[in-house]
Amino acid sequence: MVFTNKSWRSGRIDSNCLSPKGEFWNRLEQALDLSKSTLDKRKSVYAVGYKLKYERGNIFLNRRRFLTTCCGESQSKTELLEEPMISRRTSEISPFIVMDVLEKAQEMERAGEDVIHLEVGEPDFDTPLCIKEACDRAIKDGKTHYTHSLGLFELREAICEYYFTKYDVTVSPDQVIVTSGTSPALFLIFSAMLEKGDEVIISDPHYACYPNFISILDGVPVSVNVYEEEGFQYTSQAIEEKIGAGTKAIMINSPSNPTGNLLDKERITEIASIGLPVISDEIYHGLVYEDSEHSILEFTDNAFVLNGFSKQFAMTGWRLGYLIAPEEYIRPMQKVQQNLFISANSFVQWGGVAALREAEADVIRMREMFNKRRKFMIQRLREMGLGIAVEPTGAFYVLGNIKKYPTSSYEMAFDILKRAKVGVAPGIDFGKNCEGYLRFSYANSLENIEKGLLRIENYLKEL
Ligand SMILES: Cc1ncc(COP(=O)(O)O)c(C=O)c1O
Repeated sequence: MVFTNKSWRSGRIDSNCLSPKGEFWNRLEQALDLSKSTLDKRKSVYAVGYKLKYERGNIFLNRRRFLTTCCGESQSKTELLEEPMISRRTSEISPFIVMDVLEKAQEMERAGEDVIHLEVGEPDFDTPLCIKEACDRAIKDGKTHYTHSLGLFELREAICEYYFTKYDVTVSPDQVIVTSGTSPALFLIFSAMLEKGDEVIISDPHYACYPNFISILDGVPVSVNVYEEEGFQYTSQAIEEKIGAGTKAIMINSPSNPTGNLLDKERITEIASIGLPVISDEIYHGLVYEDSEHSILEFTDNAFVLNGFSKQFAMTGWRLGYLIAPEEYIRPMQKVQQNLFISANSFVQWGGVAALREAEADVIRMREMFNKRRKFMIQRLREMGLGIAVEPTGAFYVLGNIKKYPTSSYEMAFDILKRAKVGVAPGIDFGKNCEGYLRFSYANSLENIEKGLLRIENYLKEL
């Protein structure tokens, strides 16, 4: 008999199926409901196994692992080999393709090739000195222990001060959770908000990882297409058409990755007035070159803000971010943080305090350089015939339209890497509606951008 209980799957092995190897496998096949071909295919990737037990003629297999075995004459000679069985949750997650491009590019560099990076979303600037010094001081002063799970009070206060000065909104430190990057903050918000099957509305194109954060927590991402001709802006009408009984929140990201466009004030007002919670990813705030950015908190309190230090303060490797949420959500998210992450790094948080209070001049300097690069990149991409309908005015990305070429964005990105030695991000990473585009990042020096685009121009001429 085969049965499954909470953590063990078991199949009864009678004595006659212990000797002939084939028969034992057949039995396992039945027990695990696998076809022979799966079994054979997997045989080549075995690791020496564990977690099998016999009890009174039953063989108990750890349910989370695939297991096959060669068996000898008796139970004691049984040899176990196994391969981990990957959960549906993990096997269904799509890769972050930009990281795949980056890693391939790094491999080429290790082999001595000269690759230019226009794929990666991280400032090339060094982290401002005042931030590094604050972190140094914190280490020297022994601030190397766990902090409060919500984050250092001093940092939470500095975040509130920053939001008050910049957006004229009042937030209490009790509404803030400091996290190790914005990514864990996304995880905390969705874990507190979503039940199985709950929907979250996101734009398409969108930041590559949003759908995976939602799905891994059993939610369902629902896409609303946004279009180049409209500056990739959401319309509240298109959002409302997708709202159903299961819709839990609407996500916005302005300036946006990958489009570099901003949502204008009227559109945010409309989205806020729909009445559903709005999750606003404000990680590119501070990197806006025309007009100005708005926090969702200027429009509604029914909102969750995600923000972090990676982009505007050139702190990607520090892993520091935060969220601001309605107070009733804080305790539930705090419990998740305590269990999963304990707290963000202590001395890094002191760097965060300095970033918010002392790094304004550095941010202005970096922003001016980004802006020069932005203008140059838009002009060059237009000259190269990769049409840009509405100029992006924020973040550090430009989407180039490659629809006239008979190839997918994925193929083209890897082909450009191979033949032109330039890393670019394929549109498909950012949603189906972003197929037909390549994302170019100007978080690299003007000199490298110039060189990289020239290489791509020559590549395109040869197509
Ligand atoms: C829109 C957006 N949100 C969140 C993140 C994650 O940033 P962090 O480095 O703070 O985890 C990124 C990183 O590229 C991003 O582009």
